[in-house]
Amino acid sequence: MIRIDDALVRPFLDESFSGLLRDAELAHETFLSKRGAGGDLTGWRDLLLQPNDALLERINEIADEIRRDADVLVCIGIGGSYLGAKAVIEALTPYFGGDTGPEIVFAGHHISGAYLRELLDHIEGRSVFVNVISKSGTTLEPALAFRYVRQMVEATFDDADRRIIVTTDPEKGALNRLHQERGYRKFDIPPDVGGRFSVLTPVGLLPIAVAGIDIVSLFYGAVAAAEDLTEAADNDAIRYAAVRNAFLRQGKAVELLAVFEPRLRGLGEWWQQLYGESEGKDQKGLFPAIAQYSTDLHSFGQYVQEGQRTLMETFLMVDNDEGALRVPGSEDDLDGLNYLLGKTVRDVNRAAYEGTSQAHSAGNVPNLTVWLDRISPGTIGEAIYFFEHAVAVSGYLLGVNPFDQPGVEAYKKEMFRLLGRP
Ligand code: PA5
Repeated sequence: MIRIDDALVRPFLDESFSGLLRDAELAHETFLSKRGAGGDLTGWRDLLLQPNDALLERINEIADEIRRDADVLVCIGIGGSYLGAKAVIEALTPYFGGDTGPEIVFAGHHISGAYLRELLDHIEGRSVFVNVISKSGTTLEPALAFRYVRQMVEATFDDADRRIIVTTDPEKGALNRLHQERGYRKFDIPPDVGGRFSVLTPVGLLPIAVAGIDIVSLFYGAVAAAEDLTEAADNDAIRYAAVRNAFLRQGKAVELLAVFEPRLRGLGEWWQQLYGESEGKDQKGLFPAIAQYSTDLHSFGQYVQEGQRTLMETFLMVDNDEGALRVPGSEDDLDGLNYLLGKTVRDVNRAAYEGTSQAHSAGNVPNLTVWLDRISPGTIGEAIYFFEHAVAVSGYLLGVNPFDQPGVEAYKKEMFRLLGRP
């Protein structure tokens, strides 16, 4: 099961931390009881406690059909309607090649005309399926991308109604109108699950299944974590929430989530939205930033070590990763690497992690580590639930509603005014 190691943050915490930990336990109770602000948007936990196996089966059936008949699946969505699927697919598919089924491309996650034009060129002449995902059905970025892709698919294929799958609210929004008019197949997004908490609904599960990932193990990994984190005693999600709030109170402004395995970067991007949208309100909250080490140690690593002391850091590490590649010997040792003989690349990466965590700690960047046992569908499911549970607790501890996102509307209002939307 996922666990945290907070040994290195302890020297930075004073006696007030035990009180904060007790408050975090109360916040956990508030979350579980649904009595807190936004408590009616915690359906993402309920659906794990009452798994709907028939739904997982239906998702797998449609995914199999897409895997069989498609060259490319275009997934259209933004924010919570895209980051979760992208994170899990990146984490669980090979870096290069592999039997991953149809190519999966994302669209509607920005407003680049060049991207759309090149996407349409890229999919032309190929067997295209589309999954358009929008809870509201009104978000401009995916709606605009969908108009282009839909017109292309409808003009090209006689069976366009089979090729377009809509994932949206059970009743409301433009996508429901299209589903009814055109007969596209549809998955519902439960009304009590907000976008950034929706990866374990059809929002994330259909594209993930099309990538050939075992969604049952993913889902049940999250179920196991939800059960494990129900009790307040020895609860690492509560502890993580308390630690990050302790550092916020000490004046830290940024939490850097650092991964040492590149395929986990997408999970960091998903985490960034989860924490940014859940906590960044009422002029509160840590700014969530991501780092991919050791790559970024050679870019902003200098800042982390010696810049403004406003950072705390969370490492997301894998206990049993796949880096058992041994460092090869070299007779002449011209590159001077023979001191690594007998070690694996994993050993080297682990030394980089340990060295970084100690150096950053010595440089007054307190850091803790969230440990995954390995990278598998089950452990990624655990990680998803762990971070969701922790942000609910952390948000209540902070004194905000972790389940709304009123600030997201501000740019839209200005943009729509400039575009002259009626
Ligand atoms: O977490 C959220 O609620 C947001 O990130 C939404 O997922 C995002 O804005 C997309 O919204 P929609 O799914 O309604 O198109």
